[in-house]
Amino acid sequence: MGPRSSPSRPRLVIASLNADKARELASLLGDVPFEIVSLAALVGAALPPEGEESYGVNALAKARAAARLSGSAALADDSGLEVDALGGRPGVRSARYGGAGLSDAERCAALVAELRGVPPERRTARFRCVVAVASPNGREEMVEGVVEGMITSAPRGTGGFGYDPLFFYPPLGRTFAELDPSEKNRVSHRGRALALARDVLERWGSAAG
Ligand code: IMP
Repeated sequence: MGPRSSPSRPRLVIASLNADKARELASLLGDVPFEIVSLAALVGAALPPEGEESYGVNALAKARAAARLSGSAALADDSGLEVDALGGRPGVRSARYGGAGLSDAERCAALVAELRGVPPERRTARFRCVVAVASPNGREEMVEGVVEGMITSAPRGTGGFGYDPLFFYPPLGRTFAELDPSEKNRVSHRGRALALARDVLERWGSAAG
């Protein structure tokens, strides 16, 4: 993947079989002292299914599996949307909220319907992202990024994915779907978690690490 692929660097496998996600994680990570490779490039790669216990359990399971498979350090993430009026749901079940096989738009519609009648001051929510890094010899670290916002009563904007059209970010006065990708990455849960993961990898890559 680009200028980072110096042969003298240890490898870091991005533990996602989704090519778009792997590319996004690699670009958010930026310049780290590792050669970044995608798990999809490894023959026979598979990852454990995501469970419902916590983001950390899911991210660590994926990072460990990829580290074992590849014999290299590996990085994985898991994320979700936590709505206060729903006691933190959908949370770790965000990708499955509303039922199997729904589109992003249908999942957003289900959330709008479930929050109908909830007043603005009770529509607070946050996106959370946990990133796990694992090495084949058992070294492991986890970091977390959070961004606070409000759930709108109707979708706004066409960018992003998932719940972005419903996630209003007060400091910029727009939903995440109304931000361009670089604006979103600067403030998003995933952008924040990856900035912290980058610090971890700088340490791992340094002699003192
Ligand atoms: P995962 O981390 O790929 O398992 O994503 C979990 C789910 O959380 C996604 O399918 C989305 O529904 C939601 N989600 C996570 N991050 C975002 C985001 O940045 N924007 C919108 N939805 C998100």
